[in-house]
Amino acid sequence: MSINLTKPLDDTVISNVEKHFLRGLQANILKGHGREHIALLFLEIADQAKALAFLHAYPVTDAFTQLEETKLFKETRAPGGVVRLVFFTKAGLDALGHGAPFAGFGAFASGMAADAGVLDGGSNGSWQAQLKQPAHVLLLIAYHDEATLARMVGKLVEDFAADDAPFKTLLVQEGRAYKNSDGEGIEHFGYVDGRSQPLMMKSDIEREANGGGGIGQHDPTAPLGQFILADPLGGDGFGSFLVFRKLEQDVAGFKAAERHLAATLSLAGDDRERAGAQIVGRFEDGTPLTLGNAEGGVPVRNDFNYGADANASRCPFQGHIRKTHPRGSSPGGLAFDNTVQMARRGITYGHRLQDPDTKELIDQPNDGVGLLFMSYQASIENQFHFMQTQWANNEGFPSAGVGIDPVIGQVGTLGQRWFPTFGSTASPQSEHVGGFVKLKGGDYFFAPSISGLRSL
Ligand code: HEM
Repeated sequence: MSINLTKPLDDTVISNVEKHFLRGLQANILKGHGREHIALLFLEIADQAKALAFLHAYPVTDAFTQLEETKLFKETRAPGGVVRLVFFTKAGLDALGHGAPFAGFGAFASGMAADAGVLDGGSNGSWQAQLKQPAHVLLLIAYHDEATLARMVGKLVEDFAADDAPFKTLLVQEGRAYKNSDGEGIEHFGYVDGRSQPLMMKSDIEREANGGGGIGQHDPTAPLGQFILADPLGGDGFGSFLVFRKLEQDVAGFKAAERHLAATLSLAGDDRERAGAQIVGRFEDGTPLTLGNAEGGVPVRNDFNYGADANASRCPFQGHIRKTHPRGSSPGGLAFDNTVQMARRGITYGHRLQDPDTKELIDQPNDGVGLLFMSYQASIENQFHFMQTQWANNEGFPSAGVGIDPVIGQVGTLGQRWFPTFGSTASPQSEHVGGFVKLKGGDYFFAPSISGLRSL
C-alpha cells in the first residue's frame, strides 16, 4: 500500500503507511501551522560543504509532528513547538550540485524574477534591494511567542555572520498575524483572510461538512496530488513547490478607493460596506457577498457557489475571490476552477495600531505593511502562474470587459463594472479600482521531502 495522490489523505486511521508518509513530508503543506509569528531567512550559500552539513542536521518539522501537536492543542490548548521549514530555489539546488532533476520545471527553474507576467510592469524594478539578490535557501521559522522567536533568529543570524559560516544572510523578514474580534485572521485592508482553502485531509473535510457550514454548495475536497509530487531529489518522499510574494499594501489608498466607490454608487449607511465587499467578494467579517447584502457571518461561511449569481449582480466577476476562484462560474467549469487552487499559507507583515477592545485596525499606513503570500502547489505553471496571469491580471476573464482583479491585478486600466443595487445589474458604474498592492519581491521555491533533504 502506498499513498494515493488522486485522493485526499485519510488521516482518520494512521497506519504505518500514513505515518511514514507524514514523517517524510514537511509541515505546513497539508494544513497551516497556525503560529502567529514567523521569520523568513533568505540565505545565500557561502560554503557548500558547511551548508550541506547544516541542512543535514537541521531539525525540520514534519507533518506527523504537526498533526500530533494539533491534536494536543485541541485537547489541552497547549501551543505547539517551534516550526522549522526549509526551501530551495533552483539556484540553491544548483549551488548544492542537485539542480539537474529540476531542469524540466520551467517556472521554478527560471525563478520569479524571470517570469515577466507576474511582475509589476513586467520587471522586478519594484522589488526591494535585498529581494533582488537571488536567494539559495529559505528558512521559515514559526512560533507563538515573538520574543523567543526573535532570540532564535538572532542566534542564527549571528552564526551566519561569521567568516566561515555556511550561509550569508540576505534578508530576515518577519511576519505577524492579526485577528479580528471573532478570532479570525485578517489582512491589512481589514478583511478576514484564509477562510477558503482546498482541503486535502479527510478529518478537515469532515469538520467542514459537519461543523464548518457544509460542503453541499462548495466541496473543497482536493486530491493530494494537487499540492505534492514525488520528490525529484529521490527517495520515497514527497515535496511541493512554494510560491513566495512580498505584497505591500497601501491601506490608506485602498480605504480611500472604497469610500470613493461607495460615493459613486450612492451607497448610504451600512450599505457603504458593499463597496469594499464588491472589491473583495466578501464583507470585512468574511460574509460572502453572493450570499447576502450585509455583514453577520459568524461562523464565516464557505459553502457557496455563484450558481444563483450567474449575471454577477451580487458579487461582481472581478471581486477578488470570484476572480481567483470562480467555483464553476468560469468558462473552464467547476472541475477546472478547482484544480487551479493552491494551499494558501500567507501571513501579514508589518505593525499596525489595533484597538485592544474592538480589534479594529486604527492607523492607515501606505507602506511598510502587507502580505507575505505563500502557497503550496504541485505545478507553479498550472496554479499560481495561471491564476495570476490568466485570471487576476486578465481584463477579459471570465468574459470581455470585466477588468482586472482590483486587489491583486497588475496590469490594465479598464473601469470594472460596479452595481448600486444588490442583486440588480441596473445602472452599473464604471470605475477603475486597483494598484494598492505592490510586489516587493518573491521567488519560486521547492520544499523537499525530509529524506530528500537528508540525502543531499
Ligand atoms: C495583498 C494581497 C492579497 C490580499 C489583501 C488578499 C485578500 C484576500 C481575502 C480577504 C480573501 C477572502 C478570504 C478567503 O476566502 O480566504 C482572499 C481569498 C483568496 N485569495 Fe487573496 N489576497 C491577496 C493576495 C492573493 C494572491 C497573490 C492570490 C493568488 C494569486 C490570491 C488568491 C486568493 C484565493 C484563491 C482566495 C480564495 C478564494 C475562494 O476560494 O473563494 N490572493 N484573499
